[in-house]
Amino acid sequence: MSHWEETLIGTSRCFLQVKSKIPLLSRSKSTVLISGETGTGKELFARAIHYSGERKGKPFVPVNCAALPDHLIENELFGHSKGAFTGALIEKHGLFHEADGGTLFFDEINSLNMVAQSKLLRVLQDQEFRPLGSTKSRAVDVKIVAATNADLRYLVDARQFREDLFYRLNVLPVVLPPLRARREDIPELASQFVKRSAEEFGKGGIQLSSGAITKMMNYAWPGNVRELEGVIHRAVAMAMGETLEASDLDVPDHEPTGSIAMYVPDGLEEILIEQGGFQETKTKMIDEFERAYLTKLLSTHQGNISKAARAARKERRAFQRLLHKHGLDRRTFSAAEQPVETLAC
Ligand SMILES: Nc1ncnc2c1ncn2[C@@H]1O[C@H](COP(=O)(O)OP(=O)(O)OP(=O)(O)O)[C@@H](O)[C@H]1O
Ligand SMILES: [Mg+2]
Repeated sequence: MSHWEETLIGTSRCFLQVKSKIPLLSRSKSTVLISGETGTGKELFARAIHYSGERKGKPFVPVNCAALPDHLIENELFGHSKGAFTGALIEKHGLFHEADGGTLFFDEINSLNMVAQSKLLRVLQDQEFRPLGSTKSRAVDVKIVAATNADLRYLVDARQFREDLFYRLNVLPVVLPPLRARREDIPELASQFVKRSAEEFGKGGIQLSSGAITKMMNYAWPGNVRELEGVIHRAVAMAMGETLEASDLDVPDHEPTGSIAMYVPDGLEEILIEQGGFQETKTKMIDEFERAYLTKLLSTHQGNISKAARAARKERRAFQRLLHKHGLDRRTFSAAEQPVETLAC
């Protein structure tokens, strides 16, 4: 097995189905759009696409669209020539130049503002870009992989994302299933994370008890694989013995059945200490809250939208719009209905 294959843990049918597309996605010159909830492994997949193909000897350059300041986007992406503006004392190469021959990974593409969207569209159409202050365009050979945790179609409908750019990006779409739609992968993921964390903390031979596994299988994991990784990491760090019991895992035993308690998403502290202004942080927190709240609610009501909307005291259609916004599908919460193949994968 090659290295990139080993990084992607999971043997569930829907996971293997997406994984099997990687060599094909990598060979094609077309743009790949990876969608999936937060923590489902979008960046890991983007890296696998890069490292599984001919571009692996060239750079993989991630661009966090949410962290790019509006006024610097062009400079960051395309660079500038000497004297392009006051203070431009030397020529600066942009990320497109850096990634030449390799892959540019546009993470959180849904956060790209309208101006940046039109600039990106132009490069995708022309296969060339012009550094600020330069009169000459430069051709580039860059594979574009983009990721989003919001439903881009919803953003297009809401006029927050350019439709033409959406179609340019969505040539090869990949949808990563949420962890709750592939629960059978939880034990393998968890034991790999235990192994990794145990090595990191110099604690050999830590095992998961069957109670711990049951507890993990019964939880909805709104933060997906990243949340699972974090829970295990903390449990291993605190472990006194060689077995991790259910009580050692910091997740609720049961999904709440009555009123919905305020849920603080895992990783919120990380968001708080990330650099970024008040507005950006606030938007991110509201986003995280909405997703966690909806996940919890749908999980409690087993994917029944009417019941969930009623509990949230929201009109059914407005509730559904919120689900679309976060790319959540009620069927992945239903105990009776297994997720439809095309839906999860
Ligand atoms: N299938 C997998 N096998 C092993 N580890 C995984 C898998 N999927 C995700 N992970 C791990 O989970 C964490 C989150 O993955 P990643 O950063 O790729 O998710 P993401 O979808 O980009 O999240 P976000 O939307 O929040 O940016 C990483 O530490 C990654 O290594
Ligand atoms: Mg990511």
